[in-house]
Parts: sequence; C-alpha cells; structure tokens
Amino acid sequence: MSAERVPRGIDPTRAHPARRYDYWLGGKDNFAADRESAEILASGFPTIRLAALENRKFLQRAVRHLTAEVGIRQFLDVGAGLPSAGNVHEIAQGIAPESRVVYVDNDPIVLVHARALLNSSPQGATAYVDADLREPEKILDSPELSRTLDLSRPTALILVATMHFITEAEDAHGLLNRLRETLAPGSYIALTHATLDYLSPERRAEVVEADEKSGVRFQMRSREEFARFFEGLDLVEPGITSIVDWRPDVPPEQRPSVEDVSMLGAVARVP
Ligand SMILES: C[S@@+](CC[C@H](N)C(=O)[O-])C[C@H]1O[C@@H](n2cnc3c(N)ncnc32)[C@H](O)[C@@H]1O
Repeated sequence: MSAERVPRGIDPTRAHPARRYDYWLGGKDNFAADRESAEILASGFPTIRLAALENRKFLQRAVRHLTAEVGIRQFLDVGAGLPSAGNVHEIAQGIAPESRVVYVDNDPIVLVHARALLNSSPQGATAYVDADLREPEKILDSPELSRTLDLSRPTALILVATMHFITEAEDAHGLLNRLRETLAPGSYIALTHATLDYLSPERRAEVVEADEKSGVRFQMRSREEFARFFEGLDLVEPGITSIVDWRPDVPPEQRPSVEDVSMLGAVARVP
C-alpha cells in the first residue's frame, strides 16, 4: 500500500501487529514501517513467515473440527486480523451455512477492511466489533455481539495468535477469564501462542533481541504459562502441542519442525 493511499485514522509510521502479520501472509495491507519491523524480527527468527502460515492452518483446522465434529455454530474471534484466505466464517459456513461469527480487533486497519469479513452466507451471520481485548466489557456489551450471538448457547471463543500481544502487567489471564465466564457450558476456547520453549538458549537470545528491536510489544509464554489459560477447562485431544502437531492433516514428514514454528496451540471445552 503506498503512502498516498493511507486510509483515514491509520498511522503508517509505526508497525502494527495486524499489518505485519498481513505482510508475512503475503497480503498487501501493510506499510514500510510494518515491513521493516517484520524483517527485523525475521533477522532473529528467519522462519516467522512459515510460523504465520502454520498458525493460519491451525485456525482453519480448529474451526473445521469445532464445526464439523463438535457441532459449534457460534464463534467469537478476538484478534481476527485482516481478512485473509479462509476466514473463520468461510470455514464454518462452508460446513454449516447457518454459522454465526463475530470478529473483534482493535486495529483501525482491520476496521477499514472489515467488509470482507461480513460477506456471510444468507443462512448465517457475521459482525465486526472494533474493540480492544483489554476492555472485555466493550466487546461483551456491543450491540453487534448481542445481535449476532446468543451466549447462552455454546460458542467458540477464538484467540489465535492474539494473547501474546497482552502482557502479564495487563492481566492476560484475567482478561481471558472475563470472556470465558460469559460462555455457556459446552462452549470452547481455541488459542495459539508464540513460545521460546522449543529453541536453544542461543536461539532464544536472538529472537528476544530481534523482538525487542522490532517495535511491536510482544509477550512470549512457556508451555506452563500457556497452560494456565486452560485451567478448569477440558482440553480436547491431543491437548497442548506445537500447532503443527494439533490434529494435523498431513503426515509428520510433511510438517515443519516445532522449532521453526515455535507456537503452542490447544482447544478446550468449557464444562
Ligand atoms: C497475529 S494477528 C492474528 C490474526 C488471526 N487471529 C489469525 O490467527 O490469522 C493478531 C491480531 O490480534 C490483534 N490484536 C492485538 N492486540 C489486540 C487487542 N488488545 N485487542 C484486540 N485485538 C488485538 C491485532 O490487531 C492482529 O490483528
């Protein structure tokens, strides 16, 4: 996107997570500052693009599982990101056209492009809420949410590659719990998260340095810290794994290494 085509309300001079992720996925809705930040991070973690693509594949496998095998028909996708191939409603409605999806993101660029997330099947519904996960009440009280989802019925809360933008100081676990306590029994939570767990101490140091230089605030979490998001929930098989090993649809020899992807994923049921 060229500087002269900057939409109103967008700051192109500072890297933003949604636009940087769009760059890694091969999208066009990013600016020089996003690409620069992306390349700085890639200098410490060269397989970041692969990690982004694998994350997207996890999202799609999780939504497919929840729709086709569990029977979920409502989705709340927080940190939805810019529209990309295989958005949640496209996957879910491809299986069950009556599926209803609410997308949430706090990045103004996602709001600019949200129309592409709203092309629901006639039998289902989609909505977009411009809100910040750090203000869960704004999400929960939004008219778009109450018009689209009935939270007294099972709903899948999706936070895929989102929680690592929330620090401990911002009470990441408390924020997730606030959303989770509104979910009906039989609801699900699907999460992925960046981790340093799979890397050697030398490689960890390189990633941390590049991450700090990249200008986007980020919080890596260990498997133990990630597991705390699921306390009191029933993990779906195979539990907490590298995203590449979570209900994979390709044999092991075709999957990237857990080091190159360095993301944890899991899906759990609210009892
Ligand atoms: C790496 S992208 C992931 C997009 C999508 N979930 C996926 O996995 O393909 C992270 C998204 O989370 C959003 N995000 C980060 N912090 C957020 C916050 N506090 N509230 C809402 N969205 C947030 C970013 O704007 C970005 O679109």
